[in-house]
Amino acid sequence: MALVTIPEENRTIQDLEEITRYLASIRIAYERWQTARELAADASAEDILAAYADDIERLKARGGYVTADVINVNPQMPGLEAMLAKFNREHWHDEDEVRFIIQGRGLFHIHPPGGKVTAIEVEAGDLIAVPRGTLHWFNLCASREIKAIRLFQDPSGWAPNYTESNVDARFQPLCMGPAYIPATL
Ligand SMILES: [Fe+2]
Repeated sequence: MALVTIPEENRTIQDLEEITRYLASIRIAYERWQTARELAADASAEDILAAYADDIERLKARGGYVTADVINVNPQMPGLEAMLAKFNREHWHDEDEVRFIIQGRGLFHIHPPGGKVTAIEVEAGDLIAVPRGTLHWFNLCASREIKAIRLFQDPSGWAPNYTESNVDARFQPLCMGPAYIPATL
């Protein structure tokens, strides 16, 4: 389950209902998904999309998403740090950022208009939908891996627009979940 923190209030939310309610209040959709069958760690993108077909179709109908794919990020990936550097500064997209986590962990920071920056640490089973135009940034946790289903209204809209606000520099990209391992930098 996701771990939600509001660093400026020194507040952590760990209860599913409270997380869902709080995130909805800052316009972030959050769900926990169950799968009908266990997926192998090396399951193909096709197998993953098939296993979650019902949930994917439900989201497509609700959000107008037309395509779904699987992104697989791991420490062996060439150009990993350059790719991550595109998303770890405050930005927004002209497209919703919808992710269902299959494996690994990651940390979203959301900067709601006039509200407190909120950190959402996601793990397998978490669905998060960040609406278009929402200011946010993303970091991987220490294992440097994440596998996720992505849904798109139009993949060309999913490019980062940077605010250059430097707000992101005020928040430590530290994951605190059960698999927490201090980052070695
Ligand atoms: Fe983004």
